[in-house]
Order: sequence, then C-alpha cells, then structure tokens
Amino acid sequence: MNTLDNKRIVLGVSGSIAAYKAPDIVRRLIDLGADVRVIITEGGREFVSELSLQTVSKNKVHNNLWDKDAELAMGHIELAKWADVIIIAPASANTIAKICHGKADDLLSTVILATKAIIMIAPSMNQQMYASKAMNENLRILEARGVVNIEPGSGEQACGDIGEGRLAEPIEIAHQAANLFINNLLIGKKVLITLGGTIEAIDPVRFISNNSSGKMGMALANACVNSGAKVTMIIGSISTQIEKRAKAIFVTSADDMYEAVMDNIENQDLFISCAAVADFKPAKVSQNKIKNNTNLESIILSKNKDILESVCKLNSKPICIGFAAETENLISNATEKLINKKCDAIVVNDVSNREFGLNSDNNEVHFITSKKTEKIDKNSKQIIAEKLINKIVKYFF
Ligand SMILES: Cc1cc2nc3c(=O)[nH]c(=O)nc-3n(C[C@H](O)[C@H](O)[C@H](O)COP(=O)(O)O)c2cc1C
Repeated sequence: MNTLDNKRIVLGVSGSIAAYKAPDIVRRLIDLGADVRVIITEGGREFVSELSLQTVSKNKVHNNLWDKDAELAMGHIELAKWADVIIIAPASANTIAKICHGKADDLLSTVILATKAIIMIAPSMNQQMYASKAMNENLRILEARGVVNIEPGSGEQACGDIGEGRLAEPIEIAHQAANLFINNLLIGKKVLITLGGTIEAIDPVRFISNNSSGKMGMALANACVNSGAKVTMIIGSISTQIEKRAKAIFVTSADDMYEAVMDNIENQDLFISCAAVADFKPAKVSQNKIKNNTNLESIILSKNKDILESVCKLNSKPICIGFAAETENLISNATEKLINKKCDAIVVNDVSNREFGLNSDNNEVHFITSKKTEKIDKNSKQIIAEKLINKIVKYFF
C-alpha cells in the first residue's frame, strides 16, 4: 500500500541521540512513496552523517540558513512551500521549545514558521526531560495549534534511564504520516477517472496530441483510494507514476477512451473527467506512412465524441465532474461548459500560466457548481486533489 505516493516530505533532524535513526526514517518514508528532503540542525549534525541522509534521500541535505548557493537552488521559503508535511524526527527538547515560541534562528525553525504544511513532531529525549513541566506545556501548546505529536515509546534509554522519551520506531513514524491522508469520505463508493492526453493518429507514425502529464488525474485517483473508494482509471498518454491500488485501463485515442468509459460507467457513483481529450482527430488515417515528398498542405479534421457530455446524458448518470483547461475568461467559459454539458461541477485551471500548466507539479483551480464558485489557491496537485475530493463529498454525497 503506497499511501505516501506523490507526497513531499521535509524531514527535520535535530540534536537528539536518536538522530542516528534518521536515515531509516527517510527510507521508510520513501518506501511508502514519498519524495523526501532533509533539513538538519547543528545539533543533529553531531549525531548523524549528512552523507548518509543525502544517500538515502537522493537529495542534498539542507543545513544552513545562510547558504547562498542553497538559497539560489531551493531557498528556505521555497522549501517551506514545497512540503506537504514536515516531520521533525527526532525532535529535541530545544527544537520543540523553539517552534513552540516561534523562534527562527536556524533553517529548520525558520522553515517551520514559513510553512502551511502539516507539522508532525516525534519527541526523543531523556525521560526526565520529557516529563518536565516545560516540555509538557510546550507540547500542549503545539497540539492546540494542530501540530501532530508522534508520541515517544517507553523503555530503556541511551543514557541508561528507563521511562518515556524514546523516539517512536521509524516505521511507525512513516505510517503515522501516511495515515494523515487516509479518511472514510468515499467508503463504499465507485469512482471512474479519465486522465492523460489522447493520441490521434495521422498515419502509422505521426499523430496529434497534447502535453498532458496525467499528474492531476493520478493525484485524484490517489486521493479517492485514500478516501476508501474503489477506483478505475482510464489512462491516456501520461508521464507520471501509476497509482497501483486502482484498476488501470490503458487507451490511446479519444475514441478508445470513449469506449472504455462507456464499458465501465455502469454502477459508478462518481465520474471525474480529467483527461485532456483531443477535440479533433484527422478525418482519415493514412494506412501507410505519408511520404515527405507528398504535397500535403492541410489535414482535414473531424470532431471527437464528447465523453463528459455523453456520460451526463446517461439515464442513471453518476455525479459528473469535468475539468476545463482555459487560457482566458476562466470562470465564464467554465460556467458555460457546466451548463451546456449538464455536469455537476467543473474544475477550471489557467493553462496559460506556466506555473500551473498541463505538465506542472502544481495547480491552482476554481471549483464551479451551479450555486457557487470557489478558488483553491496554488498548491501541489496532490493537495489540490484532496481539497477537491472534500468539496465533491460535501456537495454531492
Ligand atoms: C551526547 C548528547 C546527547 C543528547 N541527546 C539528546 C536527546 O536525546 N534529546 C534532546 O532533546 N537533547 C539531547 N541533547 C541535547 C541537545 O543536543 C541540545 O539541546 C542541542 O542544543 C539541540 O539542538 P537542536 O535542537 O538545534 O538540534 C544531547 C546532547 C548531548 C551532548
């Protein structure tokens, strides 16, 4: 079960003796599908080698707020924005106190202040330190702010004491991070999602297509599976990893996609049309490769069937959510599509903005129903997908 697929995790390693377990935590997170970047404090550097962390995470380890080269590559604000989750493991008493009081005197504490990501801490310290009033109050304040506490275990400690304060097991930390993304919102529901681009043949080697990566649709499939749904994906041409817990049906052209959707639509509760389906195809496909000395001035196109509109017309139609990629008049064009196709909601994004375009890892969308339009601000496609599923469940289930 890869429940951290596509998730971006910053692991903060601070100065606890248990920092030597940090490479194992990185490995466990990667095993569950996460992309991991490590920030290490000065204290953390005393206990674990950056080379080990760099090797297992396959990324440069960030250790210094004042590193000019690092600021040019992925600076502290970018790192704070990049993360879906920041896990401080091990979290030293000092680092916990710093984030509790909003200090920003090193890279890790500054990134924590600058992030909108979920923050998890895995305290690790001597049992007396853990039992201290200051620590208890700090943890209470952080929990009230929504910081998730991965509680330490009890037993013999490195210093010889026995008691509570041992770092939670690396596998437990990874599973608690994965559990953040699991909910029951779509339990018992069946979801059909189309994603990726379609390929419309001109001749046996040439075609018309687009540069859809399928990342948004795959993030939606992942979010639906994490919400308990049984998911079928109709996949065109993509350049992203496949959600292995969903059923995958591969297609090439818009006609193939139409047939695959119609063959699988019965008994679905939710249809999400996220694929970038070609509107047009060559009217005639040449059986042989067109010679380059052919006097070919134009290609005659014919219109493809509209898959979303066809599903919306079915007698027992599921809840239908369409995607619109627009370059101008986003809201009015998408609202027109909502009305014309009679679907339940349209998700529109501005593909003229290269930050959120077809092949980007991020998106910014508007969710439009007949009653209202809501903006979902720029974020990773994974987080956008989770927010969209929340809205779909809230309005339609
Ligand atoms: C040998 C040794 C082991 C330590 N182990 C811990 C520990 O397990 N937990 C903890 O909170 N602090 C521990 N400390 C103290 C921290 O390393 C110290 O408070 C440091 O300032 C933490 O810095 P940081 O939070 O910026 O990483 C230890 C110190 C030493 C010298």
